[in-house]
Amino acid sequence: MMAEPLLAIEDLRTYFYSRSKRAFIRSVDGVSLAVAKGETLGIVGESGSGKSITAMSVMGLVSAGPGVISGRIGFRSDRVERQLLEGLDTCVALRREGGRVMAVEKDDDRWAGQVEKNMTGIRGREISMIFQNPKQSLNPFETVGRQITEAIMLHTSHKIEQEAKEKAIEWLDRVKIDSPRLRFDNHPFGLSGGMCQRAMIAMALSCEPHLLIADEPTTGLDATIQSKIVDLLAELKSELGITTMLISHDIGIIGRLSDTVAVMYGGTVVESGPAKDVLSCSPEGKHPYTAALLASIPSSDAVREKGHLQAIEGDVLDTINIPAGCRFYGRCSRVTDKIREKCDKQEPDLREIASGRRVRCWLYFE
Ligand SMILES: Nc1ncnc2c1ncn2[C@@H]1O[C@H](COP(=O)(O)OP(=O)(O)O)[C@@H](O)[C@H]1O
Ligand code: SF4
Ligand SMILES: [Mg+2]
Repeated sequence: MMAEPLLAIEDLRTYFYSRSKRAFIRSVDGVSLAVAKGETLGIVGESGSGKSITAMSVMGLVSAGPGVISGRIGFRSDRVERQLLEGLDTCVALRREGGRVMAVEKDDDRWAGQVEKNMTGIRGREISMIFQNPKQSLNPFETVGRQITEAIMLHTSHKIEQEAKEKAIEWLDRVKIDSPRLRFDNHPFGLSGGMCQRAMIAMALSCEPHLLIADEPTTGLDATIQSKIVDLLAELKSELGITTMLISHDIGIIGRLSDTVAVMYGGTVVESGPAKDVLSCSPEGKHPYTAALLASIPSSDAVREKGHLQAIEGDVLDTINIPAGCRFYGRCSRVTDKIREKCDKQEPDLREIASGRRVRCWLYFE
């Protein structure tokens, strides 16, 4: 049994309308996920599978242009209970002709107002997010310490500046930034990429959020720095027990930090379950995409034997032309004659195959 979820995403669909193609790019296409209190849910999948847009949808950051969103995102902590997509459907109208969406009419002002209402007291306070590019996420004109102090004063009960400043220094120390009192006065450009990511983590956690969303927190950093940031996240996880939604295309990082894992492909979840089962070596009970991702891990043996890394063959799904059948059909090497017709024509559901384990593949339903 899963502990009570802090965040429950149900049938989330986040689409962007392409005027030139008169069609939707279905970036997130029916995702259901739950993050239990105190757990780390890892979301893994190749680039373009809809991981970031899922996170942005939770944070109320899908607002630009004709982006539309449906489903339910429930957030429930001991401080608040909220439906984060409340009322957004009433801000958008679709104009259809012959079954085809010809235009998306969106009341941008009302949409922005509704998002603001839904996210008040949530963004930064209940849910914090760290991104791939810490330097871009920090304000270049303000010292790192000042930015953390301001966040603390805005989102926590520490309203006195001196007190908030001491808290900020404590957090810089906690994320292992050396000489935190000196670093406090550095601007982001004076810090390395790894240091900036530590500062971002300090800023996100200093507001004592219930949920941390970390989207590719180590991507773009040097390999040695990457592993140090992963060590830090692992330490903070055991120290603070903070609920985390961790997003990465790197299955190794997901494996180190996650309790449960969801594998995304083409805007959908194709497999989910306890990390130890989803990421185990055995292909038994696995979605063929997960098995391929695991086979692409650069194990030293594989590199030695083949002299190169094995990538998954074929291209990532184009989410504007979703096939009728299984989204992975064009790249799947495990289709059998018995199920070929179904794989080609009918999309499988995400179904439970064992306690807590779900897979979206015809191989398991025959
Ligand atoms: N603003 C946007 N307009 C149109 N398409 C978008 C937009 N943002 C993202 N997408 C598309 O949505 C898909 C999923 O993107 P994303 O969630 O960023 O993938 P991931 O984080 O898994 O790499 C991609 O195909 C991307 O091109
Ligand atoms: S449903 Fe068919 S095509 Fe899709 S992953 Fe399973 S075996 Fe492969
Ligand atoms: Mg991404």
